[in-house]
Amino acid sequence: MIIKSIDQLNSFSKKVADHIKEKDCIFLIGEIGVGKTTFTKLLINYLQRKDNLKPSEVLSPTFNLLYEYDLKKFKIMHYDLYRLKEEKELRNLGIFKDNQNAIKIIEWPDLIKIPITDKLEIYLNYTKGDNERELKLVGTGKWKNFK
Ligand SMILES: Nc1ncnc2c1ncn2[C@@H]1O[C@H](COP(=O)(O)OP(=O)(O)O)[C@@H](O)[C@H]1O
Ligand SMILES: [Mg+2]
Repeated sequence: MIIKSIDQLNSFSKKVADHIKEKDCIFLIGEIGVGKTTFTKLLINYLQRKDNLKPSEVLSPTFNLLYEYDLKKFKIMHYDLYRLKEEKELRNLGIFKDNQNAIKIIEWPDLIKIPITDKLEIYLNYTKGDNERELKLVGTGKWKNFK
C-alpha cells in the first residue's frame, strides 16, 4: 500500500486503532526516519481522543526503551528496542509476562523470536516521494486478513 502523506498515514492508523484490543501486538519495521514513531503517535492520539482524553505528546522511547499511555480500558506500551543488543536484555524487559494485558507497539522488534497470537507487522519503506511511504502488512491471528 502506498501512503502519500502523513494525512493518509493518519487514516491508516485510525483503521488499525479501531481494530485493536488488549494483548494485541504491533511490530513496526523499517529504517530510521521512515515513520514508525509518527504512526504510533497518530494511533495513540486517536485513541486518546476517542476516550475523551487529552492527546498527549508521544515521544520516541529511544533511550527509555518504553513509554506507557493509559487509556480508559487498557494501556498502550510503546517500545523502541533499537539499543538492545542481546536476547538477555530483552528478557529482562519482561515484555511478554503473563500479566500484561496491555497493547504493545514495538519499533525495532528484531530480537523478538517468540510467537505472538495476535500480531500485526507493518513494514515501512521509503519511496521516491519525500512524504510518501510504502507499507506492507503481515498479520497473524485476528490480524491475518487485515488490510
Ligand atoms: N507519509 C509519511 N509517513 C510518516 N512519516 C512521514 C511521512 N511523510 C513525512 N514524514 C516525516 O518523516 C519523519 C518520520 O520520523 P519518525 O516517525 O520519528 O521515524 P522512525 O520512528 O521510523 O525513526 C517525521 O519527521 C515525519 O514528519
Ligand atoms: Mg522511532
